[in-house]
Amino acid sequence: MIVTIDGPSGVGKSTATRELAARFGFEYLNTGSMYRAVALAMHRLGVPTSDERAVGAALAGVRVEVPLGRVLLNGADVSGLIRTPEVSRGASEVAVHRAVRLLLVASQRAAAVGRDIVCDGRDQGSFVFPLAECKFFLVADARVRAERRAAELARDGATVSVEDIHRDQETRDHRDTQRDLGPMRPAPDAVVVDTTTLTTAEVVERLENIVLAVR
Ligand code: C5P
Repeated sequence: MIVTIDGPSGVGKSTATRELAARFGFEYLNTGSMYRAVALAMHRLGVPTSDERAVGAALAGVRVEVPLGRVLLNGADVSGLIRTPEVSRGASEVAVHRAVRLLLVASQRAAAVGRDIVCDGRDQGSFVFPLAECKFFLVADARVRAERRAAELARDGATVSVEDIHRDQETRDHRDTQRDLGPMRPAPDAVVVDTTTLTTAEVVERLENIVLAVR
């Protein structure tokens, strides 16, 4: 069974995805971390993330794997290095490039073969897994999303203002909705859940009930 959870930045996708996967004993695929790893690779190589041609050329030397919730870049665990605002911006820029999307979409599809899996991202239900049995699209008030992300970063020891995060998320979400390949949008058969006033536990419970009904 494939369950997809899409939506904009800071809407609570990754926590809901992880918890839902744990409840059903499914695997968990956080596709944003793959775009983040590509951005980190480009930063390390000195390749500007907005330069489609240069990023495309450098991709040959980039291998991203996501075993058991970790992110490996060319075999090395970079899970702890990809949540910075700089990598967030880079991920948003590389995610527009066709070559990057085609590479990562292929490995996302390969990761799901023969597995029960919950995948989160922007295009999982609308593009990567059009036949997924259960699709969700989470939405929430923009200010609340920025506050959630700020709290998350604070837990990791970083101090970033809610205003800066809000501006950053707006830019990223806009870029995500405007690109040609795999733009962010709800699949026609996705259940849209507004998480603005819900706790994580409430979101997970709501999704869980729907998955149980479909299963
Ligand atoms: O979900 P997360 O914020 O970690 O994703 C980082 C960036 O990767 C997003 O801003 C988005 O541009 C891109 N992304 C994407 N498609 C996905 C997942 C993430 O374009 N399926």
